[in-house]
Amino acid sequence: MKRVAILISGGGSNMVALVRSMTGDHPARPVLVVSNDPAAAGLTRARELGVATATVDHRPFGRDRAAFEAELLKPILAAEPDILCLAGFMRVLTPGFVERFRGRLLNIHPSLLPKYPGLDTHRRALDAGDAEAGCTVHEVTPELDAGPILGQARVPVLPGDTADTLARRVLAKEHVLYPAVLRRIAAGDRTPVLL
Ligand code: GRF
Repeated sequence: MKRVAILISGGGSNMVALVRSMTGDHPARPVLVVSNDPAAAGLTRARELGVATATVDHRPFGRDRAAFEAELLKPILAAEPDILCLAGFMRVLTPGFVERFRGRLLNIHPSLLPKYPGLDTHRRALDAGDAEAGCTVHEVTPELDAGPILGQARVPVLPGDTADTLARRVLAKEHVLYPAVLRRIAAGDRTPVLL
């Protein structure tokens, strides 16, 4: 049974979808939800789902990413995860942290990578007049939002879409894509999931 730790910063809707998917004959189980924000609503949702939680507030560390990560590693290593899932986690991780979990550190990004790495993805897709948008699950590598793609889901951009309406349509797909990718990865299959 693979052990999965999930890192969040906010609402944790992707974390909820992942946790809910890990039941029955699923080859993985959630062992920890960690947030860099003590006020993250996802922490309450994780507890309601019976998953252990930890909080490592990044603010006391200022710009010292390495010091923050040294603290972040403590609950993560104690949980002995096989796979780490970033799910709405809004801190950039150092190459040192990424290398430590290389090959088993996943992230979901709300665009069809390699298009629109970084922030404001829906606004950028609308401004570009794209007919399609979507989300990508990828392996985390030192370069932001650029690792090997493990899954993608596409949605149409509709007339009258705003960044909010598009974000909602993409988020619904994220909740299907991420669990599908995690199940495959946990089963040792790295064939990309394309929805
Ligand atoms: C989602 O758009 C996700 O793609 C991005 O963070 C946003 C919020 O995710 N990574 P969640 O509801 O906190 O899972």
